[in-house]
Amino acid sequence: MANPTQPPLIGLLFSETGVTSDIERSQRYGALLAIEQLNAQGGVNGRPIKALLRDPGGDPDRYRLYAEELIRNQGVELLVGCYMSHTRKVVMPVIERLDALLCYPTPYEGFEYSPNILYGGPAPNQNSAPLAAYLIRHYGERVVFIGSDYIYPRESNHVMRHLYRQHGGKVVDEIYIPLYPCDDDIRQAVERIARAQADVVFSTVVGTGTAELYRAIASRYSTSARPPIASLTTSEAEVAKMGADVAEGHVVVAPYFSSIQTAASQAFVQACRAFFPEDVSITAWSETAYWQTLLLGQAMHRGDSDRSEAVLRHLYGASLDAPQGKVWIEQQNNHSHLTSCIAEIDSAGVFQVKWQAPQPIRPDPYVVVHNLDDWSASMASEAQP
Ligand code: ACM
Repeated sequence: MANPTQPPLIGLLFSETGVTSDIERSQRYGALLAIEQLNAQGGVNGRPIKALLRDPGGDPDRYRLYAEELIRNQGVELLVGCYMSHTRKVVMPVIERLDALLCYPTPYEGFEYSPNILYGGPAPNQNSAPLAAYLIRHYGERVVFIGSDYIYPRESNHVMRHLYRQHGGKVVDEIYIPLYPCDDDIRQAVERIARAQADVVFSTVVGTGTAELYRAIASRYSTSARPPIASLTTSEAEVAKMGADVAEGHVVVAPYFSSIQTAASQAFVQACRAFFPEDVSITAWSETAYWQTLLLGQAMHRGDSDRSEAVLRHLYGASLDAPQGKVWIEQQNNHSHLTSCIAEIDSAGVFQVKWQAPQPIRPDPYVVVHNLDDWSASMASEAQP
């Protein structure tokens, strides 16, 4: 331990307030649950881990300032946090310059590598590629894109457009709304969706706008069949806000859903219910924050350190039986091997799994394997630790 007079530290950068607070609170409590369990097992060689929490309120500048404050002033080198990609992008130069480590438990657009970031959520080859195949097979070839106006939706749509085109699909419109949409933004977007007469809507809208969009679609199609909305990010947290009647029939791809009935998932859900505040949902991104923090804690314990370099040495080659199944980090690109699932939301708001990858998918953030036919070439069993 670098400083035996200090407790081992982990900084948490999740917004308790702001546009993505529902989902970020689910991540924050996932990380806190892991720290609670690690400490119950003795922390870092008998020393309880101390979590330092900051609330950036969804503001990129505050993510950057809090990251710098935690590292420079508090001596933190290990952070778990960020949801929206532009918040990760502003934290990245800070953690690289100060040689800290960020666990990022969120799906994102890919095309990034930092030696100082561990990417715990899926890259496009792990979520967009199987989703595109599923949507074309089950719903049809005409898709309309709608996203919040920032990097994650724009880049994700770029990949999705390629995936659709490769199989003769057609993107009939591409719509962006502000991160904080007003009623008019949503209304105009829904009219464009209706005009496009697509088989399916691919949504990369995040945060509070998600429930508003789904509600507006439900209301616009109150007398006719509504097109399913497929998403990489809509979770139990957003469904809790929109209601089961509005969520019914929509589609999500993620490595975990709280409805999964394995023993590991049920134990996780039970632990979350006992630990999370009542208004915090159990989501795929709670699960990712949970297993990334557990993996971090185990590496801290093995390295007897909360310094980034020592911890990183013990993270590579380690695997964990997470609630979703076995997960591990690909040392070549710092992304994670994950088992993707596609679910349709039923009339009770429950995510019913319709498809599951037969084994963990190797992360390919630069989409080297780049089409619908061979995305499953990313399946990797030979590289399992
Ligand atoms: C995201 O912005 N990566 C959800």
